[in-house]
Amino acid sequence: MKVDVILGLQWGDEGKGKLVDVICPSYPIIARFQGGPNAGHSLVIHGKKMVLNTIPSGIFRNGSTNVAGSGMVLNPVGMLREIKQLESLGIPVKERLVLSRRAHLILPTHPLLDSALEQVKGDDKIGSTLKGIGPAYSDKTARQGIRLGDLDNGRLEPNFREQIARHTNELMRFGADLSQLDTLCDEWMRSLDEIATYTRTDTEFYLNNELDRGVPILAEGAQGTLLDLEFGSYPFVTSSHTTVAGVCSGLGVAPHRIGKVMGIFKAYCTRVGSGPFPTELNNETGEFLRQTGHEFGATTGRPRRCGWIDLPALRYAIMLNGVTDLIMTKADVLSELTEIGVCTHYRTSAGQTSHLPADLEGVEPVFRMIPGWHHSLTESTSEDSLPPQLLHYIDLLEEELNRPIRIVSVGPDRRQTIHRG
Ligand code: GDP
Ligand code: IMO
Ligand code: MG
Repeated sequence: MKVDVILGLQWGDEGKGKLVDVICPSYPIIARFQGGPNAGHSLVIHGKKMVLNTIPSGIFRNGSTNVAGSGMVLNPVGMLREIKQLESLGIPVKERLVLSRRAHLILPTHPLLDSALEQVKGDDKIGSTLKGIGPAYSDKTARQGIRLGDLDNGRLEPNFREQIARHTNELMRFGADLSQLDTLCDEWMRSLDEIATYTRTDTEFYLNNELDRGVPILAEGAQGTLLDLEFGSYPFVTSSHTTVAGVCSGLGVAPHRIGKVMGIFKAYCTRVGSGPFPTELNNETGEFLRQTGHEFGATTGRPRRCGWIDLPALRYAIMLNGVTDLIMTKADVLSELTEIGVCTHYRTSAGQTSHLPADLEGVEPVFRMIPGWHHSLTESTSEDSLPPQLLHYIDLLEEELNRPIRIVSVGPDRRQTIHRG
């Protein structure tokens, strides 16, 4: 059996949570492979919106097993809060959640360091979610991180004290306010004690054994390809590997075990935080997309920057991930527009290109305008009910991207999903 993957092709928030929830009945196991509480994955369950940060989006499905893989960074405080909220809704999280012993822990000082580092950067700040992601992955790379499995070897408490002392020195140099640190550390330790009562295991063995037994697995990406540490719009990226390579390194599965790679994108484009965004619309159309698409961060509430779809960026993301199937979301948000812009290529100082350059500064998008559909999509449940102009848009994208769009999502609800052949 294989690991099928669903991951974002843009700058995150493509609708991964909704789509994992829609397709996960075919997968007994759903596994997150990277990132942490910087993610905000929204699902609408019986008309109620839920946002998941750390827990995989299969958690609502009966009989599912949801794995927080070794490539993730976990904050016990936030994770426990998320778990308690799910349990209060009657979700048996203890039965459905498995945590990797290799996953790294976000310490109470990591978010403080994240804020301090952002402040120092001033106008050049990344616009991070301030969840401590960068500092936690930096400690992992510097080989001084603390892992969930350290609960089992007696090293957790001494290492914790050592790391907090080191971080405190660093924070003092930044002049950070440390008045709440003791309280934060107590809360962190108490939360970790409770998290320790949930299943933790060597998930790389668990996942490979399940594949050997014929159980299909769905890997759920967080963030998006353009936020990837290696191939995103560096330095305005996150600190993990958001591409399909991250599935292998973050779950411990070999490349030949990867099956379908489902790349998800919005019918337009958004970005939250700083960094280049060639197709951004700083005008009333951008504002229209933000308001109509409710483009405000699921984790931080920040307004998302909005713009037209960017085909060079999508082609690049498809190439990097070996995408086999496309999923398009939020076509309904474009319904009232007379014209829709499609960036087909860029103009750069070196001439025209349909490739995404390593440095996006100074890149100018070239748009083709196509007619809108003036037709509400939110009640559409099959391809026959889609307006011809939208079908034309889908054909154009399939031709330009050279991949089939297998699913078109026309609203946040599970039911608002059109499966195509
Ligand atoms: P994720 O991070 O990729 O899971 O995406 P987010 O949950 O951060 O942002 C996507 C937002 O769009 C959420 O509010 C979803 O409920 C919503 N959404 C998902 N698919 C659709 C869609 O097809 N149409 C509309 N209008 N909203 C959608
Ligand atoms: P989901 O999984 C959108 C962005 C932040 C910032 C940059 C670095 O919901 O799609 P970080 O806190 O990771 O150090 O921030 O990455 N970012 C996201 N943008 N969706 C996300 O996750 C994001 N996670 C991080 O805004 O620009
Ligand atoms: Mg999100």
